[in-house]
Amino acid sequence: MTLESFRDELAATACTIAAQGKGLLAADESNGTIGKRFAAIGVDNSEEHRRAYRSLLASTPDLDDAISGVILFEETLFQDSVDAGGQPGPPIVELFQSQGIVPGIKVDQGVEPLAGGLPGESWCTGLKGLQERAARYYARGARFAKWRAVLKISPEGCPSELCVRENAWGLARYARTVQEEGLVPIVEPEILMDGDHDIETTAAVQEWVLRTVYEALSHNGVFLEGSLLKPSMTLPGKDCASAPSPDQVAQFSLRTLERTVPVSVPAILFLSGGLSEEEASVYLNGINRAISPAPWHLGFSYGRALQQSCLKHWAGHDVHGGQQALLARARANGQAAQGFYVSGSEPSDGTPLYEANYSY
Ligand code: 13P
Repeated sequence: MTLESFRDELAATACTIAAQGKGLLAADESNGTIGKRFAAIGVDNSEEHRRAYRSLLASTPDLDDAISGVILFEETLFQDSVDAGGQPGPPIVELFQSQGIVPGIKVDQGVEPLAGGLPGESWCTGLKGLQERAARYYARGARFAKWRAVLKISPEGCPSELCVRENAWGLARYARTVQEEGLVPIVEPEILMDGDHDIETTAAVQEWVLRTVYEALSHNGVFLEGSLLKPSMTLPGKDCASAPSPDQVAQFSLRTLERTVPVSVPAILFLSGGLSEEEASVYLNGINRAISPAPWHLGFSYGRALQQSCLKHWAGHDVHGGQQALLARARANGQAAQGFYVSGSEPSDGTPLYEANYSY
């Protein structure tokens, strides 16, 4: 197909996802990553358990009050659900659709070491056969896609220019390719929190990265009104001597985005990147309080920070408990996306979610 034939639909999908007070549930953990989550709650990483857990997410009543879309892993997009009693049900994707939640799909195939880059740098794979896969995902109901490029900051000089350029170009090739098959691309250049650098350093690197990404998107003719940005918040390194205040995170994040992201992009949906559930909500709330009206919808696309309590309450069997915990964090973030979340007003799990050198 062509981008032209999908232009109106892409803009409409992006607008639906950018609905006021809503954001994305990122439930696209690869089988390896969900295995780590399950191990932490003593659940085996079998297809049946993955089916049961993702069915819990999809059948959560009123999830659509704060969730406009869900990012799925390929297995889940094609998987049938089971109900709380273990009885077979409709496809998981249909459960989300029946609540008006737009299904999306992770299309990158993970990162690999970047030849010629600095030690620890990566590039993101998945372009080969992407157009055919995108068409198959669209036919199954997916309407948006995600591709996560990862960059790190280090005293050794990371990110290198090669790493920034390669990852920006990969994001742009992906975005253009999936738009031709009707999927709204989520452009995700994550800057890892690893390191002891200050917030000014992150801001300078992130400005460079985002500038390069939007230049590459332009070279590839990506239709910005039918795309979404998923950045990390502008934060100091995890081991930086001074922790940031929510006001500081808001000021630096907004300054970075205002300098680099065109206003034709309908929404900026932050990743949680290893923040705790409550930190992710409080920082998003601060960002929304610091600017009104913002030129873009400023929302969330959280994985760890939306699912941690849910996983712990579910623990392999308590579907209702898991769903209530998920709803609590969805409500908190829905309010934070409008700047009126009151810290501590919803239950959360305080477990630190940061992992060094994280891959999804
Ligand atoms: P986290 O919110 O856990 O960082 O996940 C973001 C992500 O990329 C999932 O799609």
